[in-house]
Amino acid sequence: DKPLRDLAARQDLRIGTAVDMEALGSDRAYRSRTAREFNSVTAENVMKWEVVEPERGVHDWAEADELVRFAQRNGQAVRGHTLVWHSQLPAWLTSGVADGSIDAAELRRILRDHVTTQVKHFKGEIYEWDVVNEVFNEDGTLRESIWLQKLGPSYIADAFRWAHAADPKAKLFFNDYNVEGVNAKSTAYYDLAVRLRQQGVPVHGFGIQGHLDIGYGFPQDVQANLERFAALGMRTAFTEVDVRMTLPVDDAKLARQADDYRRLLAACLNVRRCTSFTVWGFTDKYSWVPEWFSGQGAANLLDEEYAAKPAYTAVRHELAAH
Ligand code: G3I
Repeated sequence: DKPLRDLAARQDLRIGTAVDMEALGSDRAYRSRTAREFNSVTAENVMKWEVVEPERGVHDWAEADELVRFAQRNGQAVRGHTLVWHSQLPAWLTSGVADGSIDAAELRRILRDHVTTQVKHFKGEIYEWDVVNEVFNEDGTLRESIWLQKLGPSYIADAFRWAHAADPKAKLFFNDYNVEGVNAKSTAYYDLAVRLRQQGVPVHGFGIQGHLDIGYGFPQDVQANLERFAALGMRTAFTEVDVRMTLPVDDAKLARQADDYRRLLAACLNVRRCTSFTVWGFTDKYSWVPEWFSGQGAANLLDEEYAAKPAYTAVRHELAAH
Protein backbone atom coordinates (compact mmCIF):
# COMPACT_ATOMS: atom_id res chain seq x y z
CA ASP A 1 0.00 0.00 0.00
CA LYS A 2 1.11 3.49 -0.79
CA PRO A 3 1.91 5.61 2.25
CA LEU A 4 -0.22 8.67 3.00
CA ARG A 5 2.42 11.05 1.67
CA ASP A 6 2.19 9.46 -1.78
CA LEU A 7 -1.59 9.55 -1.91
CA ALA A 8 -2.05 13.29 -1.86
CA ALA A 9 -2.97 13.91 -5.48
CA ARG A 10 -3.07 17.59 -4.69
CA GLN A 11 0.68 17.94 -4.59
CA ASP A 12 0.69 21.25 -2.79
CA LEU A 13 -0.80 19.60 0.31
CA ARG A 14 1.60 18.39 2.97
CA ILE A 15 0.52 15.61 5.27
CA GLY A 16 2.21 15.84 8.64
CA THR A 17 2.53 14.54 12.15
CA ALA A 18 3.70 15.85 15.48
CA VAL A 19 6.80 13.96 16.60
CA ASP A 20 7.50 12.77 20.13
CA MET A 21 11.30 12.78 20.30
CA GLU A 22 11.47 10.15 23.05
CA ALA A 23 9.48 7.73 20.93
CA LEU A 24 11.56 8.59 17.86
CA GLY A 25 14.71 7.66 19.74
CA SER A 26 13.47 4.45 21.35
CA ASP A 27 10.82 2.86 19.10
CA ARG A 28 11.84 1.55 15.68
CA ALA A 29 8.28 1.08 14.45
CA TYR A 30 7.46 4.66 15.39
CA ARG A 31 10.54 5.91 13.60
CA SER A 32 9.95 4.03 10.38
CA ARG A 33 6.24 4.88 10.30
CA THR A 34 6.98 8.58 10.85
CA ALA A 35 9.40 8.55 7.94
CA ARG A 36 7.19 6.51 5.64
CA GLU A 37 3.77 8.09 6.00
CA PHE A 38 4.38 11.82 6.30
CA ASN A 39 6.09 14.60 4.34
CA SER A 40 5.87 17.20 7.12
CA VAL A 41 6.78 17.01 10.79
CA THR A 42 6.17 19.24 13.80
CA ALA A 43 8.02 19.00 17.11
CA GLU A 44 5.43 18.04 19.74
CA ASN A 45 7.48 19.72 22.48
CA VAL A 46 11.15 20.24 21.65
CA MET A 47 10.90 23.63 19.93
CA LYS A 48 9.01 25.16 22.86
CA TRP A 49 10.71 27.88 24.87
CA GLU A 50 11.14 25.86 28.09
CA VAL A 51 13.11 23.29 26.09
CA VAL A 52 15.22 25.56 23.89
CA GLU A 53 16.26 28.05 26.60
CA PRO A 54 16.18 26.19 29.93
CA GLU A 55 18.44 28.78 31.56
CA ARG A 56 18.49 32.40 30.61
CA GLY A 57 20.87 32.89 27.69
CA VAL A 58 21.68 29.16 27.49
CA HIS A 59 20.18 27.54 24.43
CA ASP A 60 19.69 23.85 23.87
CA TRP A 61 18.78 23.02 20.31
CA ALA A 62 19.91 19.39 20.45
CA GLU A 63 16.56 17.65 20.16
CA ALA A 64 15.07 20.18 17.77
CA ASP A 65 18.11 19.91 15.51
CA GLU A 66 17.83 16.14 15.63
CA LEU A 67 14.26 16.37 14.36
CA VAL A 68 15.29 18.72 11.55
CA ARG A 69 18.05 16.29 10.50
CA PHE A 70 15.60 13.38 10.60
CA ALA A 71 13.22 15.34 8.40
CA GLN A 72 15.92 16.26 5.92
CA ARG A 73 17.07 12.65 5.63
CA ASN A 74 13.50 11.61 4.90
CA GLY A 75 12.54 14.37 2.49
CA GLN A 76 10.16 15.99 4.96
CA ALA A 77 9.40 19.65 5.55
CA VAL A 78 9.30 21.04 9.09
CA ARG A 79 6.53 23.16 10.68
CA GLY A 80 7.83 25.28 13.53
CA HIS A 81 5.88 25.13 16.81
CA THR A 82 5.76 27.54 18.65
CA LEU A 83 7.35 30.95 19.33
CA VAL A 84 4.98 32.97 21.53
CA TRP A 85 2.67 31.12 23.91
CA HIS A 86 1.48 31.42 27.49
CA SER A 87 2.38 27.80 28.29
CA GLN A 88 5.61 25.80 28.53
CA LEU A 89 7.60 28.93 29.28
CA PRO A 90 10.94 28.53 31.06
CA ALA A 91 10.82 28.84 34.86
CA TRP A 92 13.47 31.60 34.88
CA LEU A 93 11.12 33.73 32.78
CA THR A 94 7.86 33.20 34.66
CA SER A 95 9.49 33.58 38.06
CA GLY A 96 11.38 36.70 36.96
CA VAL A 97 8.14 38.31 35.83
CA ALA A 98 6.32 37.21 39.00
CA ASP A 99 8.95 38.59 41.40
CA GLY A 100 9.37 41.81 39.43
CA SER A 101 13.03 41.27 38.58
CA ILE A 102 12.03 41.35 34.89
CA ASP A 103 10.12 44.55 34.08
CA ALA A 104 8.03 45.25 30.99
CA ALA A 105 10.82 46.83 28.93
CA GLU A 106 13.12 43.94 29.65
CA LEU A 107 10.38 41.41 28.95
CA ARG A 108 9.88 42.90 25.51
CA ARG A 109 13.61 42.62 24.77
CA ILE A 110 13.58 39.04 26.01
CA LEU A 111 10.69 38.19 23.70
CA ARG A 112 12.34 39.92 20.75
CA ASP A 113 15.60 38.06 21.35
CA HIS A 114 13.79 34.76 21.74
CA VAL A 115 11.85 35.09 18.49
CA THR A 116 14.87 36.38 16.60
CA THR A 117 17.32 33.80 17.91
CA GLN A 118 15.03 30.84 17.39
CA VAL A 119 13.87 31.79 13.89
CA LYS A 120 17.46 32.54 12.83
CA HIS A 121 18.65 29.24 14.24
CA PHE A 122 16.27 27.40 11.90
CA LYS A 123 16.45 29.86 9.02
CA GLY A 124 15.72 28.13 5.72
CA GLU A 125 14.70 24.90 7.46
CA ILE A 126 11.13 25.73 8.46
CA TYR A 127 8.37 26.37 5.93
CA GLU A 128 5.68 27.55 8.35
CA TRP A 129 6.03 28.92 11.88
CA ASP A 130 3.33 29.03 14.53
CA VAL A 131 4.41 32.49 15.65
CA VAL A 132 1.59 33.29 18.04
CA ASN A 133 -0.24 30.42 19.71
CA GLU A 134 -3.61 30.43 21.50
CA VAL A 135 -4.04 34.16 22.18
CA PHE A 136 -7.85 34.37 22.14
CA ASN A 137 -10.49 33.16 24.58
CA GLU A 138 -13.60 31.36 23.32
CA ASP A 139 -15.58 34.64 23.31
CA GLY A 140 -13.02 36.39 21.11
CA THR A 141 -11.38 38.51 23.82
CA LEU A 142 -7.61 38.36 24.19
CA ARG A 143 -6.38 35.77 26.67
CA GLU A 144 -4.77 36.94 29.88
CA SER A 145 -1.06 36.07 29.75
CA ILE A 146 2.18 37.66 30.85
CA TRP A 147 2.47 39.00 27.30
CA LEU A 148 -0.87 40.79 27.31
CA GLN A 149 -0.50 41.95 30.91
CA LYS A 150 2.99 43.38 30.62
CA LEU A 151 3.29 44.34 26.95
CA GLY A 152 -0.28 45.00 25.83
CA PRO A 153 -1.73 43.63 22.56
CA SER A 154 1.08 45.07 20.40
CA TYR A 155 3.25 42.05 21.25
CA ILE A 156 1.34 40.12 18.56
CA ALA A 157 2.33 42.39 15.66
CA ASP A 158 5.84 42.70 17.08
CA ALA A 159 6.30 38.92 17.14
CA PHE A 160 5.34 38.60 13.48
CA ARG A 161 7.65 41.45 12.47
CA TRP A 162 10.59 40.01 14.40
CA ALA A 163 10.03 36.54 12.97
CA HIS A 164 9.81 37.89 9.43
CA ALA A 165 13.03 39.86 9.81
CA ALA A 166 14.80 36.72 11.01
CA ASP A 167 13.63 34.48 8.13
CA PRO A 168 11.84 36.39 5.36
CA LYS A 169 10.92 33.20 3.48
CA ALA A 170 9.11 31.38 6.28
CA LYS A 171 5.32 31.64 6.29
CA LEU A 172 4.05 32.98 9.58
CA PHE A 173 0.92 31.66 11.30
CA PHE A 174 -1.52 32.17 14.11
CA ASN A 175 -2.49 28.86 15.69
CA ASP A 176 -5.33 27.89 18.04
CA TYR A 177 -7.90 25.24 19.03
CA ASN A 178 -11.71 25.46 18.80
CA VAL A 179 -11.38 27.56 15.66
CA GLU A 180 -12.28 24.88 13.10
CA GLY A 181 -15.63 26.41 12.28
CA VAL A 182 -16.94 29.95 12.07
CA ASN A 183 -17.39 31.12 15.67
CA ALA A 184 -16.49 34.04 17.96
CA LYS A 185 -12.92 32.84 18.42
CA SER A 186 -12.12 32.17 14.76
CA THR A 187 -13.78 35.48 13.85
CA ALA A 188 -11.52 37.28 16.32
CA TYR A 189 -8.54 35.84 14.39
CA TYR A 190 -10.11 36.83 11.10
CA ASP A 191 -10.68 40.41 12.23
CA LEU A 192 -7.18 40.67 13.69
CA ALA A 193 -5.65 39.24 10.50
CA VAL A 194 -7.48 41.86 8.43
CA ARG A 195 -6.24 44.66 10.69
CA LEU A 196 -2.65 43.47 10.86
CA ARG A 197 -2.38 42.87 7.13
CA GLN A 198 -3.76 46.35 6.44
CA GLN A 199 -0.93 47.65 8.62
CA GLY A 200 1.60 45.63 6.64
CA VAL A 201 2.32 43.14 9.40
CA PRO A 202 3.64 39.89 7.87
CA VAL A 203 0.86 37.48 8.87
CA HIS A 204 0.56 34.72 6.27
CA GLY A 205 -1.50 31.93 7.72
CA PHE A 206 -4.14 30.69 10.09
CA GLY A 207 -3.37 27.40 11.84
CA ILE A 208 -6.36 25.41 13.02
CA GLN A 209 -5.31 22.82 15.57
CA GLY A 210 -8.25 20.45 15.12
CA HIS A 211 -8.41 18.75 18.51
CA LEU A 212 -11.90 17.25 18.26
CA ASP A 213 -13.99 15.06 20.55
CA ILE A 214 -16.60 12.74 19.03
CA GLY A 215 -18.88 13.62 21.92
CA TYR A 216 -19.26 17.15 20.58
CA GLY A 217 -20.95 17.86 17.29
CA PHE A 218 -18.73 18.34 14.26
CA PRO A 219 -17.94 22.07 14.03
CA GLN A 220 -20.12 24.26 11.80
CA ASP A 221 -18.94 25.81 8.54
CA VAL A 222 -15.37 24.51 8.53
CA GLN A 223 -14.87 24.99 4.81
CA ALA A 224 -16.42 28.46 4.89
CA ASN A 225 -14.00 29.34 7.66
CA LEU A 226 -11.00 28.26 5.56
CA GLU A 227 -12.38 30.07 2.55
CA ARG A 228 -12.71 33.43 4.28
CA PHE A 229 -9.00 33.35 5.17
CA ALA A 230 -8.10 32.20 1.65
CA ALA A 231 -10.06 35.18 0.32
CA LEU A 232 -7.71 37.45 2.27
CA GLY A 233 -4.81 35.83 0.44
CA MET A 234 -3.85 33.84 3.53
CA ARG A 235 -2.86 30.24 3.93
CA THR A 236 -4.68 27.92 6.26
CA ALA A 237 -3.51 24.63 7.76
CA PHE A 238 -4.78 21.95 10.09
CA THR A 239 -1.91 21.76 12.53
CA GLU A 240 -2.73 19.34 15.40
CA VAL A 241 -5.57 17.07 14.38
CA ASP A 242 -6.77 14.33 16.70
CA VAL A 243 -10.24 13.07 17.56
CA ARG A 244 -10.65 11.75 21.07
CA MET A 245 -13.40 9.62 22.54
CA THR A 246 -14.54 8.34 25.91
CA LEU A 247 -13.10 4.86 26.46
CA PRO A 248 -13.71 2.00 25.90
CA VAL A 249 -13.44 2.03 22.13
CA ASP A 250 -16.27 0.51 20.09
CA ASP A 251 -17.09 0.29 16.38
CA ALA A 252 -19.61 3.10 16.41
CA LYS A 253 -17.15 5.48 18.07
CA LEU A 254 -14.41 4.51 15.63
CA ALA A 255 -16.76 5.16 12.71
CA ARG A 256 -17.67 8.57 14.10
CA GLN A 257 -13.99 9.35 14.60
CA ALA A 258 -13.16 8.30 11.05
CA ASP A 259 -15.87 10.60 9.75
CA ASP A 260 -14.55 13.57 11.74
CA TYR A 261 -11.03 13.08 10.36
CA ARG A 262 -12.42 12.69 6.86
CA ARG A 263 -14.51 15.85 7.07
CA LEU A 264 -11.64 18.01 8.33
CA LEU A 265 -9.37 16.70 5.60
CA ALA A 266 -12.04 17.17 2.92
CA ALA A 267 -12.46 20.81 3.92
CA CYS A 268 -8.72 21.33 3.57
CA LEU A 269 -8.55 19.57 0.21
CA ASN A 270 -11.43 21.68 -1.08
CA VAL A 271 -9.71 24.99 -0.35
CA ARG A 272 -6.75 25.89 -2.46
CA ARG A 273 -4.68 27.69 0.11
CA CYS A 274 -4.99 25.01 2.78
CA THR A 275 -1.35 23.94 2.74
CA SER A 276 -0.94 21.21 5.31
CA PHE A 277 -2.87 18.66 7.32
CA THR A 278 -0.94 17.61 10.42
CA VAL A 279 -2.06 15.05 12.98
CA TRP A 280 -0.98 15.48 16.61
CA GLY A 281 0.66 12.08 16.76
CA PHE A 282 -0.41 9.12 14.61
CA THR A 283 -0.56 6.21 17.05
CA ASP A 284 -2.56 5.76 20.24
CA LYS A 285 0.65 4.44 21.78
CA TYR A 286 1.87 8.02 22.26
CA SER A 287 -0.72 10.71 22.84
CA TRP A 288 -1.22 13.69 25.11
CA VAL A 289 -4.95 12.93 25.38
CA PRO A 290 -5.20 10.32 28.20
CA GLU A 291 -3.06 12.49 30.49
CA TRP A 292 -5.20 15.57 29.91
CA PHE A 293 -8.72 14.15 29.65
CA SER A 294 -9.36 11.43 32.15
CA GLY A 295 -11.28 8.48 30.72
CA GLN A 296 -10.60 9.55 27.14
CA GLY A 297 -8.13 8.45 24.49
CA ALA A 298 -7.78 6.49 21.24
CA ALA A 299 -7.56 9.79 19.36
CA ASN A 300 -5.13 8.83 16.60
CA LEU A 301 -5.11 7.12 13.20
CA LEU A 302 -3.37 3.91 14.31
CA ASP A 303 -3.95 1.90 17.46
CA GLU A 304 -1.31 1.16 20.09
CA GLU A 305 0.04 -1.74 18.00
CA TYR A 306 0.26 0.43 14.88
CA ALA A 307 -2.74 -1.27 13.27
CA ALA A 308 -4.86 0.91 11.02
CA LYS A 309 -8.11 2.18 12.52
CA PRO A 310 -11.10 3.21 10.38
CA ALA A 311 -9.82 6.79 10.63
CA TYR A 312 -6.60 5.82 8.84
CA THR A 313 -8.56 4.17 6.04
CA ALA A 314 -10.84 7.20 5.79
CA VAL A 315 -7.87 9.56 5.47
CA ARG A 316 -6.35 7.35 2.75
CA HIS A 317 -9.59 7.30 0.78
CA GLU A 318 -10.10 11.02 1.07
CA LEU A 319 -6.54 11.77 -0.09
CA ALA A 320 -6.86 9.39 -3.01
CA ALA A 321 -10.26 10.73 -4.05
CA HIS A 322 -9.15 14.34 -4.56
O1 G3I B 1 9.67 17.47 30.21
C1 G3I B 1 9.10 16.74 31.29
C2 G3I B 1 9.96 15.57 31.62
O2 G3I B 1 11.19 16.04 32.06
C3 G3I B 1 9.26 14.72 32.67
O3 G3I B 1 9.99 13.55 32.87
C4 G3I B 1 7.86 14.36 32.23
C5 G3I B 1 7.09 13.60 33.27
O4 G3I B 1 5.71 13.85 33.20
O5 G3I B 1 7.14 15.52 31.92
C6 G3I B 1 7.74 16.25 30.86
O6 G3I B 1 6.99 17.34 30.50
C7 G3I B 1 5.80 17.05 29.79
C8 G3I B 1 5.93 17.57 28.38
O7 G3I B 1 4.69 17.42 27.72
C9 G3I B 1 7.00 16.85 27.58
O8 G3I B 1 6.69 15.50 27.47
C10 G3I B 1 4.67 17.73 30.50
O9 G3I B 1 4.47 17.13 31.78
C11 G3I B 1 3.41 17.65 29.69
O10 G3I B 1 2.42 18.45 30.33
C12 G3I B 1 3.67 18.16 28.30
O11 G3I B 1 2.47 18.07 27.59
C13 G3I B 1 2.45 18.68 26.31
C14 G3I B 1 1.47 19.84 26.29
O12 G3I B 1 1.40 20.39 24.99
C15 G3I B 1 1.89 20.91 27.28
O13 G3I B 1 1.30 22.12 27.05
C16 G3I B 1 2.01 17.64 25.30
O14 G3I B 1 3.02 16.62 25.21
C17 G3I B 1 1.79 18.27 23.93
O15 G3I B 1 1.17 17.34 23.08
C18 G3I B 1 0.86 19.46 24.07
O16 G3I B 1 0.74 20.07 22.80
C19 G3I B 1 -0.18 21.18 22.72
C20 G3I B 1 0.36 22.11 21.64
O17 G3I B 1 1.68 22.46 21.90
C21 G3I B 1 -0.52 23.35 21.52
N1 G3I B 1 -1.90 22.99 21.30
C22 G3I B 1 -2.47 22.05 22.26
C23 G3I B 1 -1.60 20.80 22.34
C24 G3I B 1 -2.24 19.77 23.25
O18 G3I B 1 -2.27 20.25 24.57
